[in-house]
Amino acid sequence: MKTGPGTEAKTAATGGSRIGFEDVSVTYGNLTVLHSLTLTVNPGEVVALIGPSGSGKTTALRAVAGFVRPSSGRIMIGERNVTHLAPYDRKIGMVVQNYALFPHMRVDENVAFGLRAHGAREDVIRQRVPECLAMVGMSAYARRFPRELSGGQQQRVAIARALAPRPQVLLLDEPLSALDAQIRRAMIDEIAKLHTSLPNLTVLYVTHDQSEALTLANHIGIMRDGKLRAFGTSQSLFRNPPNRFAAEFLGRANLMPVKDLQPTENGHARVSFGDTFLFARNHHRLAGGSDCLLCVRPHDFRFTRATSEPNALKATVLSVQWQGDVQNITFETGGHTVRMTTPPMADPPQAGESVRIHFEPGDVTLVPEDPAHG
Ligand SMILES: Nc1ncnc2c1ncn2[C@@H]1O[C@H](COP(=O)(O)OP(=O)(O)OP(=O)(O)O)[C@@H](O)[C@H]1O
Ligand SMILES: [Mg+2]
Repeated sequence: MKTGPGTEAKTAATGGSRIGFEDVSVTYGNLTVLHSLTLTVNPGEVVALIGPSGSGKTTALRAVAGFVRPSSGRIMIGERNVTHLAPYDRKIGMVVQNYALFPHMRVDENVAFGLRAHGAREDVIRQRVPECLAMVGMSAYARRFPRELSGGQQQRVAIARALAPRPQVLLLDEPLSALDAQIRRAMIDEIAKLHTSLPNLTVLYVTHDQSEALTLANHIGIMRDGKLRAFGTSQSLFRNPPNRFAAEFLGRANLMPVKDLQPTENGHARVSFGDTFLFARNHHRLAGGSDCLLCVRPHDFRFTRATSEPNALKATVLSVQWQGDVQNITFETGGHTVRMTTPPMADPPQAGESVRIHFEPGDVTLVPEDPAHG
């Protein structure tokens, strides 16, 4: 395959690395595991797909890679309809959870393998392999075998190997899930840096880990039962989740059922929680009179012993847990349990204590109740 600089410049100019799912369904036997997925990853963007186990994330990724054939719909890369192209002809790099580096090949041979498979010349390989190892900070390990590397180092080599043929599109399927929390944090930062140095690379990133998604992605898609249930910028999904599932899945929001919405000025609304009136943003412009959910992130609750705070609820402290740099407190209010996260307090409340919890109306939003997906 030709991958000269001219080809790259041309594909970049024509949005050649855009990934497009157009109404894509995937069926195994008579079971549909991906339902009419329509989603665009713009050139140079990182989109993260998150969702519970079995929700169809890997299936979506494999459909782009060409390992799964859609039962209907089209997969586009740039202007090309690749739905019926073999994986090899799609110019895609892919890294999966436990990337099986070839155990009998040294690091540099592993990275060279992908280039050789693409028919690269030996002089090109000799130049490109060190370049790619440098990109992932693995230059010093070129002559090691995979068994002589840590898990994080192996994943770096896997990324170098995927990037070596200069793919336009990189697919990452839970690339960090086998690593422990600390190495994972460091690797997230490295992937973010790597993407800054390759601004034209389009990345579709599958993960269970919402902090990976929030850190790396421009847009996040939330999958459930083979359907895309929410899509938006990381910030907008976090701040204004479109439904209960999105609110709970991304950021573990407190969702309190509230009644009789009354729109007020500035896109806010007043709602009733039991016999208390509360004010919140009505981002989704829910209609007057409707019942919905009040979405309060754990860090948006404040607690007070005063009785004069507006937008406050009477609450009883259920538990106080200190976790180093944060304190997690659960409260009972109006028959519901809610969670608050704060920096450690000098005078924390005690379990059983009656207090008030409150929030700024601008920090919280109203979410439609969605009976079909409760
Ligand atoms: N080859 C296959 N044959 C039959 N069913 C399959 C096949 N591959 C996947 N499935 C089913 O498709 C559904 C979606 O699987 P998929 O691997 O896409 O989920 P996922 O979101 O990646 O989950 P996880 O987070 O556990 O990796 C699951 O119910 C799974 O059992
Ligand atoms: Mg998967």
